[in-house]
Amino acid sequence: MKRVTIRVPATTANLGPGFDAFGCALSLYTDVTFEETDGGLEITGCDEAYTGPDNMAYTSYCAVLASLNEEVRGVKIHIDAHIPICRGLGSSAALLVAGAMGANVLRGNRLSTQGLLNITNAMEGHPDNLAPAFYGGLTASMVDNGLPVTVSFPLHPGWEFLALVPDFNLPTTKARAVLPDQVPRGDAVYNISHGALVLKALELGDEKLLRTAMQDRLHQNYRKKLIQDYEQIEHLVRTTGAAFCLSGAGPTLLCITQDEKLEQKLARKLDAVTEANWQMLPLHVEFQGARVISAE
Ligand code: HSE
Repeated sequence: MKRVTIRVPATTANLGPGFDAFGCALSLYTDVTFEETDGGLEITGCDEAYTGPDNMAYTSYCAVLASLNEEVRGVKIHIDAHIPICRGLGSSAALLVAGAMGANVLRGNRLSTQGLLNITNAMEGHPDNLAPAFYGGLTASMVDNGLPVTVSFPLHPGWEFLALVPDFNLPTTKARAVLPDQVPRGDAVYNISHGALVLKALELGDEKLLRTAMQDRLHQNYRKKLIQDYEQIEHLVRTTGAAFCLSGAGPTLLCITQDEKLEQKLARKLDAVTEANWQMLPLHVEFQGARVISAE
């Protein structure tokens, strides 16, 4: 086989209190095609700035080949990205996952998904986007002795995920730089307890419980100053009864609800409270993780 296309779902990380641990795959995708050639690197389908050897699909492709003790030959990579870049919906994780899986498939599928997760987690530094991108659905992960351990959790089928995506981006490095290195014990306890109840509320389909549990003291308060309109939107969403959180490191804001009319309700009011342009993306949970969609 010389050519393979990998489809990877978008992911929302943290889900409020599950900082660097919880994640959920969503119905938006990036497809990446890898074609082995006699030499050189050619990357198409993305901005010129991302066509060099530091492209994340290529770096993870090379990392997997290195761990297989395989030589890196030439490769053409074509990226067809529908996950918005630098918006907190796992666009970087999708590239890392695609590169890792692409290299593995092209060289005989010798590594397990856990093996690919280990390699990409070492590159990304936290597994919360990577795990649902590989496995689909709702996951919680821990890193023990440097290696990620992931568990999948059940989700009630009635949830609607409405992503509010602004017209500005926020690099994760910038959103992590505002976080303190140490937190009060009370804040740690707050997040552990709220996190456990978020998982149960998502399983039960209990919107009232989710709205209360989906609160956080480890990252959202520090980050909201980087996100124009955050407080107005949070207030607006909470008055509809939906649960609200920052998607990953932001700037996308996420509403989780059982109310099929939430989008309509917000559409009427969003423009009145915001200055930036916010696009509403109605999404559902993607239960299938990264997969091969064509190979020849
Ligand atoms: N858990 C990560 C963060 C997700 O919040 O910084 C973004 O990569």
